Amino acid sequence: MDDRIGSIDAVQGMLDGQDYVCGRALGTVVFLALRLGRPLFLEGEPGTGKTEIAKAIAAGLGRRLIRMQCYEGLDAASAVYEWNFAEQMIAIRTAEAVGFEGPGADRDALKDELFTDRYLIERPLLQAMRPQAAGPPVLLIDELDRTDEPFEAFLLEALSDFQVTIPELGTVRAPHPPIVILTSNRTREVHDALKRRCLYHWVDYPDFARELDILHARAPEAAETLSREIVAFVQKLRTEDLFKKPGVAETIDWAKCLLALDVIDLSPQVIADTIGALLKYQDDIQRIEGSEAKRLLDEVRAELAPG
Ligand SMILES: Nc1ncnc2c1ncn2[C@@H]1O[C@H](COP(=O)(O)OP(=O)(O)O)[C@@H](O)[C@H]1O
Ligand SMILES: [Mg+2]
Repeated sequence: MDDRIGSIDAVQGMLDGQDYVCGRALGTVVFLALRLGRPLFLEGEPGTGKTEIAKAIAAGLGRRLIRMQCYEGLDAASAVYEWNFAEQMIAIRTAEAVGFEGPGADRDALKDELFTDRYLIERPLLQAMRPQAAGPPVLLIDELDRTDEPFEAFLLEALSDFQVTIPELGTVRAPHPPIVILTSNRTREVHDALKRRCLYHWVDYPDFARELDILHARAPEAAETLSREIVAFVQKLRTEDLFKKPGVAETIDWAKCLLALDVIDLSPQVIADTIGALLKYQDDIQRIEGSEAKRLLDEVRAELAPG
């Protein structure tokens, strides 16, 4: 057993080493996924660290990260492999130009040659099944909710036996299954059958203390008082009725903007000038600008005040 993942504490420590702040619940499910060799399904609001944890696990274990970004219309073919048609055409044209010597034999040789590794474009699922010197890779299947049900059904099968068949080449089987992490921003429900195959964890917005830890890890240049104000303000903002609440990514972006502007503490003016780092919809921005920002800031100050 790898010491880095020998216990929940070890897993949390490994992620900490990658500047990833991981609570006990998430640390437990990551530990179990690694120990049991089960895919990990992470669902939650955008910007809560789902994609990042796959990167942190890969970096922490020194494994290759293979990312499959899902999108509408993604099909099995482009997830596994494709033939490089352009290269195949060039090979055919070249053979034609040189001229086939005698009928039969060379044509067959060319045909065989066209369907070898040389003309194969490996897509993430196939890449993940190839042996890697460093050990099984981390396969990140990101934003699964963007695909459709047929693709989920296909994935379900691929994840159950970790092998793919290429008619012209034969079957490729992973010598050791990859570490699989699936994420969803829950723009739709992912099918039960797929979830059941995985260990599941809902990734919520962090509480004040954890978000402050994240900010310390990701924007250590920010002074303590400013960091606390930033986190408290974002936390407060998330309780407002917004179309799109700011994620942790936005908290970090905002902190970096404020640092670039040499801001020492928040003011309604500073908030108005930089609100675009936090809110990305005009309706939300209009709601929060002006007196509302001042009211939220006053509340934040009152809460942060000692005693
Ligand atoms: N627990 C965490 N520890 C450290 N950084 C985090 C954490 N959660 C989020 N982040 C930061 O927020 C950014 C966005 O996270 P990301 O993984 O892209 O969100 P998601 O995939 O859930 O939409 C990351 O790049 C990272 O900087
Ligand atoms: Mg993501």
